[in-house]
Amino acid sequence: MKTRVALVLALSLAATAHAENAAEVWTAKCKSCHGEDGKAHTTLGKKESIVDMSQPAWQKAETDADIREVIADGSSRNSKMKAYKDKLTPAQIDALVGYIRTFQSK
Ligand code: HEC
Repeated sequence: MKTRVALVLALSLAATAHAENAAEVWTAKCKSCHGEDGKAHTTLGKKESIVDMSQPAWQKAETDADIREVIADGSSRNSKMKAYKDKLTPAQIDALVGYIRTFQSK
C-alpha cells in the first residue's frame, strides 16, 4: 500500500517535472530569439522576421513532425535557427513541441 502511494506520487512528480522542464528549456535556449510567448517580439525576431507562433494559422499549418524536425535539424532557410539534436534529448524536443502548442492564441 505504501509502495503504491509512493509510486503514484513519484509518477505525478515526474509529469510535473516534464512540463516545467519544457518551460525551462524554452527560457534558457529559445526565448532570446522567439520571445517568452513565441511571438518573436525580440531584436533578432524582428531582424530575421521570425514567425509569430501564437498565430492559429501557423499552428494549423505546422504538424508536430514539422516542428520537431526544425528543432532537431535546424532550418534550411535560416542558419540562425540551429539544430538542437545534439543539445537536447528526443524527450526534451517532444516536450518543446507540446510547449509551443500552448502559445496558440484563442
Ligand atoms: C539565435 C536565435 C534562435 C534561437 C536561440 C532559437 N531559434 Fe528557432 N528560429 C530562429 C529563426 C531565425 C527561425 C526562422 C527560420 C526560418 O525562417 O526558416 C526559427 C524558426 C524556428 C521554428 C520554425 C518556425 C517556422 O518558421 O515555421 C521553430 C519550431 C523553432 N525555431 C523552434 C525553436 C526552439 C524550440 C528553440 C530552442 C530550443 C529555438 N527555436 C531557438 C532563431 C532561433
